[in-house]
Amino acid sequence: MTNDSKINRSLSRRNFLSQSAAASVASLTFAESAKAKNRANQTIVRLERSLEDSARTESVWQHIASQYDVTDQITNLENGYWGIMARPVLDEYKQQTEWVNNNNTYFARRELGNTFDAIREKVAAFLNVSVDEIELTRGATETLQALIGGYNKLNAGDTVMYADLDYSEMKNAMRWLEDRRSVNVIKINFPEPTKSEPLTEDQIVDFYERSLNANPGTKLLLLTHLNNWTGLIIPVAKISAMAKARGVDVILDAAHSVGQVDFDIKSLGCNFVGVNLHKWVGAPIGCGVIYIQKDHISDIDTYMGKSPDSKSISARIDTGTWNFAAHMTIPKALEFHNLIGTAQKEARVRYLRSLWVNEIRGKKGITILTPDDPQMVAGLTSFRIDGVTSTQANNALMRKLADEYGVLTTRRTGPHAGDCIRVTPSFYNTPKDMRKLVAALNSILADI
Ligand SMILES: Cc1ncc(COP(=O)(O)O)c(C=O)c1O
Repeated sequence: MTNDSKINRSLSRRNFLSQSAAASVASLTFAESAKAKNRANQTIVRLERSLEDSARTESVWQHIASQYDVTDQITNLENGYWGIMARPVLDEYKQQTEWVNNNNTYFARRELGNTFDAIREKVAAFLNVSVDEIELTRGATETLQALIGGYNKLNAGDTVMYADLDYSEMKNAMRWLEDRRSVNVIKINFPEPTKSEPLTEDQIVDFYERSLNANPGTKLLLLTHLNNWTGLIIPVAKISAMAKARGVDVILDAAHSVGQVDFDIKSLGCNFVGVNLHKWVGAPIGCGVIYIQKDHISDIDTYMGKSPDSKSISARIDTGTWNFAAHMTIPKALEFHNLIGTAQKEARVRYLRSLWVNEIRGKKGITILTPDDPQMVAGLTSFRIDGVTSTQANNALMRKLADEYGVLTTRRTGPHAGDCIRVTPSFYNTPKDMRKLVAALNSILADI
């Protein structure tokens, strides 16, 4: 029996995926018709109870992991920087690079527009938004900076608000508005979970409500859906509804949530969103998306190099000559991503996260910085050794984990309460990898 048919049989025995879904996840041949793939993915997403089972089905995930070529020099639990491309996506990227290079301007001058319109259509369908509400970009940083810098509804004396858990470059961009638009910039600091009190969604909504009430002149709010420091997922729809009721516009940083968390952008009710496709969707580095609700496009100035009269979202960002091959690989990345499905990816990385967090939470000397509520966390989670808040000490800890225990993590400097260590499993990681981290942490804790 082939490996694939073994996997198919084990899937059907467990009866948690339909036969067609099982076949698509297990074989990853990309040969199915678009319709069959759609059906398969819908089946995967719908069977919520089964997601937990499928997240634990190592035979399937071994097969998925075999699609990724990863160094064996270290156990990589730092997959938050960007997402490794699966082999079929990498192959496509190589081919596209060669093709663009060979065909050069013969392609670019005659076909680029149509090629990119087709890619945009696919991305819009993936995000379930209208194609005239998005444009492709090179990543979340340039996207969110174009949104923050271009937002043109601010008057001198207005207030803009961001939080300690937002991404550094966006925090700086919000501060930049103080000089450029003469506005008041308010930074708010998230409450952190403690050993005895995990954070709840209600506490986060209350935190934003109190912050907005205390600053009635607020016109613009930056939110980060799944932040890169601790991995906390915030209840964006509730916060943005509250903001809307107060006349506050919301810019959402969804760099880490798209592809890692199963959600619908429109349902979050944010006017402006920055997306990365090179993190959890697994597209080549240099793939992002700007989203602006149709009736808010004119709230963002045309970018400095674009025609000032344009009504199109495409004029809200300007990337010059970009890496065509990277963007031309997006359809293959989406195809591969959809064979697994966002819901499956989310369930898997949350399961891998639970394997280390369940063992470590509650131990003396360490605090886990995200709650276990599945609405509030996916794969990315940070910890702090109690009292160890400096960058230097966390750098030393990160190095110790890598050099002495062979586990790669990363130090994060952002939360107001101090630095921490982030652990981010990916789709190729295994329970064994998570046990390796647990053993390392237990050994470190025993020495404290
Ligand atoms: C929350 C968040 N926003 C934005 C970004 C920026 O993404 P990029 O560097 O791909 O532009 C990152 C990158 O890690 C991130 O974690």
